[in-house]
Parts: sequence; structure tokens; C-alpha cells
Amino acid sequence: MRKPFIAANWKMNKTQSDTWEFLSKFIPEVKDRPDVDIAVAPPFTSLPAAAEKLVNTGIILTSQNVFYEEKGAYTGEISPLMLVDIGCKYTIIGHSERRQYFDETDDIVNRKIKASKKAGLGVIVCIGESLDEREAGKTFNVLQRELEKGLDGVTPHDTVIAYEPIWAIGTGKTATPEQAQDAHAYIRGRLRILYGNKADEFCIIYGGSVTPDNVDSLMSCEDVDGALVGGASLKVESFTRIVKFRKGQ
Ligand code: PGA
Repeated sequence: MRKPFIAANWKMNKTQSDTWEFLSKFIPEVKDRPDVDIAVAPPFTSLPAAAEKLVNTGIILTSQNVFYEEKGAYTGEISPLMLVDIGCKYTIIGHSERRQYFDETDDIVNRKIKASKKAGLGVIVCIGESLDEREAGKTFNVLQRELEKGLDGVTPHDTVIAYEPIWAIGTGKTATPEQAQDAHAYIRGRLRILYGNKADEFCIIYGGSVTPDNVDSLMSCEDVDGALVGGASLKVESFTRIVKFRKGQ
């Protein structure tokens, strides 16, 4: 049995004091949810405040990005070792906003995953199709390419796959539970080809306009093991309700 994995991606939101305030309210709310892995990804500058707040809570400190070199002349970049040093256990890699605005390719994603794993950092690897690709019937081709290139030479442990259809991110257009289940089942099938029985170790989480209103039906899908939440993770009340999802509703 895989433990559900629910992650907050705050994107470029929340200063250190916002982070402190959010976590002061959020941590007591979710104390009774040890059966769910909860991850929070603040921006880099708020990681120290979050790290301090999250000590002994079991909540997983996560970064939103990482660079693939250990150190050196890479102005403005942050290495996996630096993130581990500050208390991060995971990093998000290959978010569609990074692929779109910062030209991250499958090769860069693969290098970032390998460098993170080497430093002992778990990874949340984002994959997903655009609206054009979906309408052209290419969803599975995109997922196959992003999985195979991104995960080339990567071991399964501490690897979470986030299926995030680009057309659902920040748009309020969530994938239906059927669309999510179809994509997740496809991803699980590809992972079986790549990893055999070890494919069952991967958490495959859904992202794209997850809210308190749709989380229960998404989490009721057989192959949906969790959620990556953007907008609805910025408010304590809505993210708490998402963490407290109820299956079968
Ligand atoms: P959203 O973002 O929940 O605001 O759609 C999800 C994500 O980009 O990870």
C-alpha cells in the first residue's frame, strides 16, 4: 500500500513571515493525519523559516526547483546539497511553468533528478500534456516521452510522479476523475515496463486546479495516490481540507 502524498506548491508566493504565519496555523490542524505524507514547497527564500517551523512535525520540506551541479560558477543557482543542508527532503522538478518559461528540457529534467538523488533528495517529477497535445490525441505520447527521458537511469525510491495536465494548471479546469485515472493508469503501465514490480512503489499524484470540492473524487481513483496543489494550498483552510480528503465521496 502506498501512503497518500499531498504537496503544496506555493510557487512565487509567501515571504518568510507569511510562511511562519501559515505554518503556525496549519501544523496543529493536520496533526491527526499521520497516514498522509504532507509536503510543503515554499519559495527558496522562505525555506529557512519553514525548516524551523517544520522540525519534528513529519511534514516534508520541499523546494520548487534545483540545479544539477554540486557547486561552482553558476550565478543564481541552488544545488541539491544546499537544499539538503537546509532541511529539504524533496524537490519539485520539471514543473510545466519551468518547462514553458525557463526552457527546461527533458534532458535538463533528467540531470536535475539524478543530481538530486545523488545528494539524497527525493523528487517530485512533473509531467503532462498541453491542451493542443490532448486535442491532437497525443497525451500518452507526451507522457511516455517525458517519463522515459526524464527517468532514464533513475531509481524508484523517493520518486513521486506528478501528472499535471497543463490545461488544468491555475485555470480552474480540473481533469475529471476519469481523465485523471486514465492518465495515471497509463503512467503506472509505462512504469511497469521500465521498472517491473517496482513500479508499484511510485506514488503518482495529480495536479491541476485541485480544490476542497474535487479532492475527494480525485483521491477515490484507484491510481491517484495524492495531489500537487497550487492555488488552493495558499490558504490554511483549503489546504487543510485537501489534506483531510475523504475517499469514496
Ligand atoms: P494549481 O497549480 O493547483 O493552482 O492549478 C498546480 C501546480 O501547478 O502544481
